[in-house]
Amino acid sequence: MQTRPSEELNQRNASFDNRLRPTRFDDFVGQQKVRDRLLLAVEAALQRKEALDHVLLSGPPGLGKTTLAFILGEAMGVHVKTTSGPVIDKPGDLAGLLTSLEPGDIVFIDEIHRMQRSVEEYLYSAMEDFVLDIMIDQGPNARSVRLELPRFTLIGATTRSGLISSPLRSRFGLTNRLDYYSTDDLSTIVVNSAAKLEISVEPEGAREIAARSRGTPRIANRLLRRVRDYAQVRAGNHITRAVASEALTLLEIDPRGLDEMDIRILETLVHKFNGGPVGLNTIAVSVGEEPDTIEEVYEPFLIQEGYLERTPKGRLATPACYKRLGLVSAARPNELPL
Ligand SMILES: Nc1ncnc2c1ncn2[C@@H]1O[C@H](COP(=O)(O)OP(=O)(O)O)[C@@H](O)[C@H]1O
Ligand SMILES: [Mg+2]
Repeated sequence: MQTRPSEELNQRNASFDNRLRPTRFDDFVGQQKVRDRLLLAVEAALQRKEALDHVLLSGPPGLGKTTLAFILGEAMGVHVKTTSGPVIDKPGDLAGLLTSLEPGDIVFIDEIHRMQRSVEEYLYSAMEDFVLDIMIDQGPNARSVRLELPRFTLIGATTRSGLISSPLRSRFGLTNRLDYYSTDDLSTIVVNSAAKLEISVEPEGAREIAARSRGTPRIANRLLRRVRDYAQVRAGNHITRAVASEALTLLEIDPRGLDEMDIRILETLVHKFNGGPVGLNTIAVSVGEEPDTIEEVYEPFLIQEGYLERTPKGRLATPACYKRLGLVSAARPNELPL
């Protein structure tokens, strides 16, 4: 069977991610608070010669959740076995995975919010008491068998922390939310990635790329690769600020890093709903995306960048939003003077 081009592309992007993925805390840029907390937990666990507490990592895609899981494995000196929520679709899958572990090993479950509830319930006793009570047979012969598990660490990653049930959430000793990166941190990441890929980039060139990366390291690395192509063909293989800017303009990358869905949300808010306030569900229907995804994946960036406000009455476009869409900051007709 032929691989579809998009599959091939995904694989290439994944291997690119892996190549640039920092493997030690020292190389993990930014997220100071999360880093400090995790480092402390690692040190304490190592001193006590215990497995690390279970860790929940949440935040929008591309901010470093998978990276941190592997860094934690490296720091603890244990194996990291990876899987994802939708892949484990029956309790037997979970049992197979957990019984294959050595003491202290890490199980990384990506997209843990997409795990089936029936499987999730088995996870509770595994996380808490390190046992699995598995039902075998059906009908009158049905009985449960207890499997003892080694002490392991579960690292769960999710882009949608709101969808994690409270029994599951409460079993994580450490919960951390990753935030969007500052342009400074992203510039450092671009410079480091350029060094790994042996690309010559000036600090100002790196900054230009960082500023258009939507606060996201994965996007910064992807843009770096695109700019490298341009530099190679048109600019003697050297990325200056001007070269980066020309390349990104040619690629129609938004100067502030907004992506298609970001723009669609802002346009909907302004053009269809007069700037708001409008409810989350209404926006969701209009743009054809799930409300939770809008709330947890798109809005945090738009709010951070000052384009959108959450108010008790709904979402509101800010003057910056009007400006961004090339409109005069129209006085909102439905806004009463104080
Ligand atoms: N703090 C960081 N410092 C340097 N590079 C990072 C950092 N966070 C993420 N990256 C880069 O971004 C890419 C995507 O990160 P990843 O951990 O896969 O994100 P997530 O799992 O949250 O979607 C990684 O390959 C890595 O190169
Ligand atoms: Mg990931």
